[in-house]
Amino acid sequence: MRETVRVSLTVNGSPRDLDVEPRRLLSDALRHDLRLTGTHVGCEHGVCGACTVLVDGTPMRSCLLFAVSLDGASVTTVEGCRAPDGGLGPVQQAFHECHALQCGFCTPGFVTTVTAYLAEHADPSAADAREAIAGNLCRCTGYQNIVAAVQRAAELSQGRPSGAADPASGASQ
Ligand code: FES
Ligand code: FES
Repeated sequence: MRETVRVSLTVNGSPRDLDVEPRRLLSDALRHDLRLTGTHVGCEHGVCGACTVLVDGTPMRSCLLFAVSLDGASVTTVEGCRAPDGGLGPVQQAFHECHALQCGFCTPGFVTTVTAYLAEHADPSAADAREAIAGNLCRCTGYQNIVAAVQRAAELSQGRPSGAADPASGASQ
């Protein structure tokens, strides 16, 4: 009989109890136990950032965390980045507007990373945006539009008019 441990989390604002094996990764617990398949798993080695979720507001690689280590924590996945009315949240909307995804595999990790970044940086420059996403890899290499989306998301989050974000601005990648 396999040993399991009871873990109590708040996931996307809702309390969730899980019985997990001690070596169950957070990414697997989210995807397979809670069916939150928006969290993607790419490298499984902490390199690509596709699996990034927010743990108590901080971006973390869910492929590097054991679920048991998070008892009592608050976890936000890409599903939790939506607007209160269930529509697209500002970062999701910005990625849509700026065409900041191609295959979309990396996108959940970008959305969670950018959501946390914008909570502390209201008006990022393009250089700031590049630094903010430096830990996330996009194999489709759509970085120019992702940078524009970060700036557009800042506008949407602040209720500011569009202006700074222009995917076709020609700025170097
Ligand atoms: Fe976790 Fe790549 S799958 S960092
Ligand atoms: Fe395909 Fe980023 S959009 S990996």
